[in-house]
Amino acid sequence: MTRAFVLAATCAYGLLTASVPSWAATVLVTGSNRGLGYEFVRQYAARGDTVIATTRHPQDAKELRELAAKNKNIAVESLDVTDQAQIDALAAKYKSKPIDILINNAGAMGPPSSQAMGSIDHKLFQQVMDTNVYGVMAVTMAFKDNIIASEQKKVIAITSVAGSMTGPWERLGGIYFYRASKAALNNVMRGMGIDLRKQGVIFGLVAPGAADTDMLRNEFGFKGRMTPASDSVAGMMKNIDAFTLENSKKPIDFDGKVIDW
Ligand SMILES: NC(=O)c1ccc[n+]([C@@H]2O[C@H](COP(=O)([O-])OP(=O)(O)OC[C@H]3O[C@@H](n4cnc5c(N)ncnc54)[C@H](OP(=O)(O)O)[C@@H]3O)[C@@H](O)[C@H]2O)c1
Repeated sequence: MTRAFVLAATCAYGLLTASVPSWAATVLVTGSNRGLGYEFVRQYAARGDTVIATTRHPQDAKELRELAAKNKNIAVESLDVTDQAQIDALAAKYKSKPIDILINNAGAMGPPSSQAMGSIDHKLFQQVMDTNVYGVMAVTMAFKDNIIASEQKKVIAITSVAGSMTGPWERLGGIYFYRASKAALNNVMRGMGIDLRKQGVIFGLVAPGAADTDMLRNEFGFKGRMTPASDSVAGMMKNIDAFTLENSKKPIDFDGKVIDW
């Protein structure tokens, strides 16, 4: 082996390792085909993390598949968070793989007109609660050992100011199912956090503000000023990076403000 070869190999290795930060993590994101979930995948992958990007319908997730085609560190997987058989199958596929950060992002709001005074739809209530609450519990439990085996040990859920008794929703009515689901989510996350605290698992609740996605713009029909999904996710990732067992008890908005329950 010549000196020149050794030098070139050392430089190439240096360049390669320089592009993968020493804190590279494995991140699993639910509901990652659009909106905030897609943005989490894009931004975690861009900083060198390995991402398991899950979606209900990978075959229809054109943008996500295109992103994955350009990034070897993104694996696209099928997952409906309300389908226990699918959750079990994915957990079996990744058995023994440490997962540093689980982003429970998949969420449903449903039409506001079906969760208003005088008009409530029981089937929709069950669907919203199944997705936003039960799905988070089921996915977290299925991947519990992967998280415990990781370095960062973080379980994250995307909550909303609509789940709080203070802030803007103190004065606003409507979207009963959605606000009930996010309030329940907050408390379930607290309970699971207490149960896995001894194993060092950090449970963190982050909120995206009013982020420009299908949910807010089209489903809710929000007409006010919205934060681009990319800025909202960048803020939430900063908060997730800073979470410790001690500082993660209260939900935190993308801009760093604590959301009172
Ligand atoms: N945008 C905001 O301002 C805002 C504010 C507060 C909280 N949030 C929360 O942020 C999270 C992401 O919301 P978003 O604004 O990005 O909404 P979005 O654009 O409507 O995206 C929702 C995502 O969740 C997925 N999903 C729904 N049900 C699912 C299920 N059963 N299994 C797996 N995936 C499912 C959707 O997949 P399909 O394409 O298959 O439907 C989609 O990928 C949600 O938890 C939401 O409640 C958003």
